[in-house]
Amino acid sequence: MLSAARIMQRCDSLARHSELPGGLTRVFLSREYRAAADEVIGWMREAGMRAELDAIGNVAGRYEGNRPGAPCLMLGSHLDTVRDAGRYDGMLGVIAAIECVAALAGKGRRLPFAIEVLGFGDEEGVRFGTSMFGSRGVSGTLDPAVLEARDAKGVTLREALREFGLNPARAPQVVRKKGEVLAYAELHIEQGPLLEAEGLPVGVVSAINGFSRLRATLHGEAGHAGTVPMHLRRDALAAAAECVLAIERIARSDPGLVGTVGRIEAKPGAINVIPGEVQFTIDFRAPRDALREEAVRSAATAVQQIAAARRLRCEVQKIQELGVTACAPWLIEQFERAVAAEGLRARRLPSGAGHDGQAIQAIADVAMLFVRCKGGISHNPAESITEADAGAGARTLLGFIEHFEARS
Ligand code: GLV
Ligand code: MN
Ligand code: MN
Repeated sequence: MLSAARIMQRCDSLARHSELPGGLTRVFLSREYRAAADEVIGWMREAGMRAELDAIGNVAGRYEGNRPGAPCLMLGSHLDTVRDAGRYDGMLGVIAAIECVAALAGKGRRLPFAIEVLGFGDEEGVRFGTSMFGSRGVSGTLDPAVLEARDAKGVTLREALREFGLNPARAPQVVRKKGEVLAYAELHIEQGPLLEAEGLPVGVVSAINGFSRLRATLHGEAGHAGTVPMHLRRDALAAAAECVLAIERIARSDPGLVGTVGRIEAKPGAINVIPGEVQFTIDFRAPRDALREEAVRSAATAVQQIAAARRLRCEVQKIQELGVTACAPWLIEQFERAVAAEGLRARRLPSGAGHDGQAIQAIADVAMLFVRCKGGISHNPAESITEADAGAGARTLLGFIEHFEARS
């Protein structure tokens, strides 16, 4: 029997594994990430799955079909969080998938395909600045250069994997081949307000918006805040302020486009020193690749022009990019049938947020089911869902699994 109450309890339980007292921050390969992974592995085993931490830090569980070794329907989401996060972004998809497997196992039901549930590590990319490490690893699209990415303390991802007891040289072991994975289906909170506005507990995702992430560095000149006259300054932070506003203007130029400067660091960072160097991130998302690419070009030009006008040197570097990922029509239709079987209207909607499916689509067609969240609020501790909606989402996912027909 599928239990919505247990899904909610487990989301609460995982939220305890946090480096932020009184809140939730759980970055990849941290002590808290280990504790969450261990708890999830325990739940998977309890649900009748074989489960382990894979070679790159994902939690991987498998429930065999009626023929051992059969290709799988892959389900899952991520177990890492942003800073001061909500407790459903990512975790709900992993926990709901385990609940579906437990319901099948409880009925003694094996399907003509295996089910794998992945709890991906590092979807958010908070610690090393490169997102979807786990799902890129599984899809064979990992750029080995990301192993050299450093966290704020200067630890590389390669070192962190070793410290966690993993061997980065084994990364190729987790790569799945096309054909081994029949499809990838992820349940996730909507993180936006549409379902709530329309009074619907779930929705079927049509496509995931693409994203581009850049890092800009402005090199000015540090100096004494009391002695250098304003007209002689080369203040990198004042230039960055202009850049932030220029990026906001670019992002506002089209209703489909969004752009964010989410992180900024000024050096040396003292009240009485003119900032000599500033680094900031830029994140653009759009439902069309051309629109996003144009925004990236405009932002790079704007930063260069602002820097030049203030006699600063600048670098703008692309750190990550993934194009728009269309969900597969044959999977959308199967999800829509599962939604209808629950007596609900099947609303299609795009995803503004990024998801592991964007990486997994290199090896399998992908689909997503969204669950309504309160006020559309996410990446915020106020993230909230109801037990009834968690139940509706999980029942819909179970219906999708039980009636899943692989494309021949
Ligand atoms: C992941 O949550 C993202 O869209 O940044
Ligand atoms: Mn997120
Ligand atoms: Mn997420």
